[in-house]
Order: sequence, then structure tokens, then C-alpha cells
Amino acid sequence: MLQSKIAGIGYYVPKNVYTNNDLTRFMDTSDEWIQERTGIKERRYADRIGETTTTMGVEAAKIAIERAHITNEEVDFIIFATLSPDYYFPGCAVLLQREMGMKEVGALDIRNQCSGFIYALSIADQFVKTGMYKNVLVVGSEKHSFALDFSTRGRAVSVIFGDGAGAVVVQPTAEDGKGILSTHLHSDGADAEKLAMYYPGASSGIWLDKIPDWPDQELGGLLMTKEMLEDGTAFPNMDGQAVFKKAVVKFPEVIHEALAKNNLKTSDISLLIPHQANLRISQFIQKTLGLREDQVFNNIQKYGNTTAASIPIALCEAWEEGKIKEGDLVCLAAFGAGFTWGSALIRW
Ligand code: COA
Repeated sequence: MLQSKIAGIGYYVPKNVYTNNDLTRFMDTSDEWIQERTGIKERRYADRIGETTTTMGVEAAKIAIERAHITNEEVDFIIFATLSPDYYFPGCAVLLQREMGMKEVGALDIRNQCSGFIYALSIADQFVKTGMYKNVLVVGSEKHSFALDFSTRGRAVSVIFGDGAGAVVVQPTAEDGKGILSTHLHSDGADAEKLAMYYPGASSGIWLDKIPDWPDQELGGLLMTKEMLEDGTAFPNMDGQAVFKKAVVKFPEVIHEALAKNNLKTSDISLLIPHQANLRISQFIQKTLGLREDQVFNNIQKYGNTTAASIPIALCEAWEEGKIKEGDLVCLAAFGAGFTWGSALIRW
């Protein structure tokens, strides 16, 4: 069986910076509250028009492809992780394929929210290991800003999220013991509604008993109604404390699972890159695992939570800053809506 490695990596964040103080223009919040609870100082929002989840993914992909020393035509499979796609369907992978002029290769969208990149990386790893593909492009990208409630009602959710994209190229490697050592994926749908955006969705009838006259409702009425916008149910819904409590258990668990699989210890980790959900969650994981501060990479302060993009953005920044060197043991871990969670261990 072949082994796979990350051969190229890139990220893109929009130019528009919104500080915590900027958000006070729209809602009743404060820099102090946001920093204390989440560690976030600022985030980026894509241009309202022209910049989309796909276009940001394309920018990140161009850099990853160039650094992998391949051409767009050599990419033989595309995996795109996002919860904020350009269209309800088709997915962003085919839009990226079109935009980048790639040949008629397979293109797959992943809907695993904050764990999306780990799931996508794991799929790429399986395809490369079995020899099916040689250059798999994995993209994580989000344009959260298009669907957040920027009024005071939505502040507990909207202050957390930001826009951006990251990408990697996964290739086979002949170097023994190098590359992706293992990936570990989990989910538990029991709490699916604790972090969810319900619409547009085929279960609207279950969630919205406010449309008793359906199907007499005007055409498309179940897709998105004025009521959904007015009562806030059109926006992402989150039980922040439930997410927090589960995350601080599942992150360490899935990291230990990856280490055990490879007969390694927490002290062997050169750099842990957790999904950037909340600085307090990262600090909790660091303490639980007994890691030093310099063994954990965080950049949520600058970008907020960019969901599927957060790990590849952080991985790329850490690499560009010289914090990942040849032979280092890099651990990626994520937890998010679903709930879904996962980890990946990489010998760089
Ligand atoms: N600014 C100011 N006040 C805010 C606020 C904001 N942006 N958001 C919420 N508040 C208020 C609430 O209204 C509440 O006020 P009250 O006590 O008068 O009712 C108070 O702050 C406490 O709210 P609560 O929701 O209990 O805060 P919290 O300590 O749980 O922090 C989160 C909220 C979202 C920061 C925290 O739960 C969290 O980080 N959870 C994990 C979320 C996450 O990681 N999501 C992504 C998953 S990958």
C-alpha cells in the first residue's frame, strides 16, 4: 500500500477586516466580551458580490497546486469541503473545476462542517494510498458572512464566524514513515440540531408548523419564508454551551486515538493544529493533553472560526512561518456540527 503526503498548501483570506469594534455598529456586543469568551479580535468577510466560497477556494487552490509543482490539468480528483456553498446544488467542487479549467475529473463536495477538511483529507488519503489517484486537490472554503444574523439576536453565533479558504494537494510518497500516518473519523447525530441551519431543507414541514396552509402557500414558500427571516430561524442555530462541552471531550479523545494507533505519545507532537473553533477550546485541549503553548497553533484571533477552511489556513500559516519542519509530527483535529469530529497525524 502506498503512503500519501501533503505536497502543496495554500490559503486565501478576503481583504475586508472586521474588528470586534466594527461589529458593535450592527449589534450590542463588545470587544471585551468577544475576546474573553472566544479569543477572536477580528475576522475577514468576503466581498458581498463577486467573491464566493468557490472563488476563494480557487485562490487557495492555485497556491497549493503551484507549491506541489503540478499543473491544473494534472489534478485527478477534487474534494471540496464547505457548509456555505455558492449554490444549494450543484456543489462547489464542479464550480472550482470549471473555474480552473481542469479536465473531466471526479469532483466531490463534503458536508461535514468544521470537520469537513479532516474528512476530505481522509478521503484523499484513501484514494492515493490505493493508487487510484496521484494528485488530489482538497479545498476547505467558507463564506459565512452571507448568512449570519448581524442583529443583536444573532450575536452569540455571528461574532464567531469568518470567511476564508485553504487547500492542499495530496500525492503519493515513496519515503517510508513520511506523510499522512493515519486519519480517524467519528460522528454522532444525536445532537444534530444543537448546531444547525435548517433552511432551505426538505424537513421544513417538521420545523415549521407555522405554514399550516402548505401546499397552498405561494410557490417556493417552504424554501425560505419571510417568517423564517423575521423570527431568526433562517439563520444558523447554536447551543454554544452544548457544543463547548462536547468539543472539549472529543478533541482530546480523537487525538489520543491517532497517537495510540501509531504508538506515539502526546510529547511526540511537534505541532497540534486544532480546528479554530474558540481559543478557550484550544487552550483547554492544550492543558488536557499536557502540551506546551508553542506545541499548539492558533490563529482564530485574526480570522475567527472559518469552519472547513480553518485547519488548512492554520496549517499553511504555520508552515509559512517556519513552525513546521521536515520530520515534524503534525496533528490535525476537528470537532463541529453533526456532531462530527476527527483527527489526522502527519509526519512532515
Ligand atoms: N456579545 C455580548 N454578549 C453576548 C454575546 C455577544 N456577542 N453573545 C451572547 N451574549 C450574552 C448572552 O445574551 C448572555 O446574556 P445573559 O446572561 O444576559 O442572558 C451571556 O452573553 C452569556 O451567553 P452564553 O451563550 O451563556 O455565553 P457563553 O459563555 O456560553 O459563550 C459562546 C458563548 C458561543 C462563545 C460559547 O458557548 C462557545 O464558544 N461555544 C462553542 C461554540 C463553538 O465552538 N462553535 C463552533 C463549533 S465548531
